[in-house]
Amino acid sequence: MAKKKTRYVCRDCGHVYAKWAGRCTACDQWGCIEEDLEVTPPKVGATTFGVAEPPKLLKDVEGADVSRNSTGIGELDRVLGGGLVPGGLVLVGGDPGIGKSTLLLQACDLASRSGAKVLYVTGEESPRQTKMRFDRIGGAGDTMWIVAETAMARIEKFVDDLKPDLLVIDSVQTIYSTDVESAPGSVSQLRAVTAKLMGLAKGREIATFLVGHVTKEGALAGPRMLEHMVDTVLYLQGQRGHSFRILRAVKNRFGSTDEIGAFEMASDGLKEVLNPSAFFLAERAAGSSGSVVAASFEGTRPLLVELQALVSPTNYGNGRRTAIGVDGNRVALLIAVLEKKAGLDVGASDVFVNVAGGLRLEEPAADLAMVAALASSHLDRALDANTVVFGEIGLGGEVRAVVGAASRVAEARQLGFQQIILPEGNLGEVGPAEGVKLLGVSTITQALDALF
Ligand code: TYD
Ligand code: MG
Repeated sequence: MAKKKTRYVCRDCGHVYAKWAGRCTACDQWGCIEEDLEVTPPKVGATTFGVAEPPKLLKDVEGADVSRNSTGIGELDRVLGGGLVPGGLVLVGGDPGIGKSTLLLQACDLASRSGAKVLYVTGEESPRQTKMRFDRIGGAGDTMWIVAETAMARIEKFVDDLKPDLLVIDSVQTIYSTDVESAPGSVSQLRAVTAKLMGLAKGREIATFLVGHVTKEGALAGPRMLEHMVDTVLYLQGQRGHSFRILRAVKNRFGSTDEIGAFEMASDGLKEVLNPSAFFLAERAAGSSGSVVAASFEGTRPLLVELQALVSPTNYGNGRRTAIGVDGNRVALLIAVLEKKAGLDVGASDVFVNVAGGLRLEEPAADLAMVAALASSHLDRALDANTVVFGEIGLGGEVRAVVGAASRVAEARQLGFQQIILPEGNLGEVGPAEGVKLLGVSTITQALDALF
């Protein structure tokens, strides 16, 4: 028998080394290089899709309409691109305790209630613990099987015997295949196990969810190729101490990656949040200085959120900057623009910026709202509580047009806001909106004049 060759790969970026090293020179991280046994190439003729076939004309290939099964959870279906595809392999990543197992258990329960056969493989919690959680979410499906198992060979056997319609592996990092000698969760194991699960899913047309752990940087633990192998990669995200959760697709072979699902963690499982804007504005400090409602975007949905700023005189020489939910560099930039272009001396103060509800605002369209919040707190003058603000700000103090202006305005209208401050350049596409006063601005000073 030929001697198995050994190589070393970086768990995070996949860079290959001939020798082990403590630090990966490609991604500049420590302790991420692991031994990886080279896999023997598959026999000629065997492919992931079955027997090898000669090329055929694309137009003769049978219909590409994929059938989809609803998971029963609208927000999950939306992110999946309309529902689960038979044979689709979906990887769900997220921080520990964020609610991955809960979400999948709820999906299993609903699938089972509608008559589907479900197999839940748990490698982390005992069946008893899972049952307690199942009771907590009010689970009632009676065609749901559970097994605490981590050996791939036995899982394959269970799947063969049971022939489930839906399979959940919680988590893929705990499963091992005896074909590979390294420990569960290692690069070689993950590759081998995922390849086998893909074979199972595709060969038997079983929709499969894999739970994946994430590294402390928030990426899925394991080689990047794990993400390449599966059909769909979803992340469940949220801030510690907040109940709001966002489910996001970062890769989807069966749909777009623009959709997000919104959930709230309640005492009996994850609840869909059908109107995220109303959710985020529920506890708004309307009428207090430093609070502004920004019209932002999450995926393809407009989202109104409350941005808060607190500007207070500093006790030390240089003012402190603390930004939660927004990029700190962006805040520094906007403070500089406020000083230089609007003459507001914020720089010598301590500045705190926060997005209410534990959301992250990444898009530049939140700039104008941030500036409004900073100015409001600095001047200690509250904004009109019925005003929504959006627009990007350039270094010259100009207010730039943003995408999706019409849907932002529509969302604000729907929630009863009466005045919108927006980029002048967006006025044309928005048109007149009944019951709402639209104020187009093209510079930061114009915006501040309109606001105060
Ligand atoms: P879990 O689904 O175990 O997270 P993950 O699988 O991503 O690690 O979520 C566990 C957390 O959610 C735990 O802190 C308890 C909380 N939780 C609720 O608040 N309500 C519920 O109904 C359930 C089942 C869990
Ligand atoms: Mg879990």
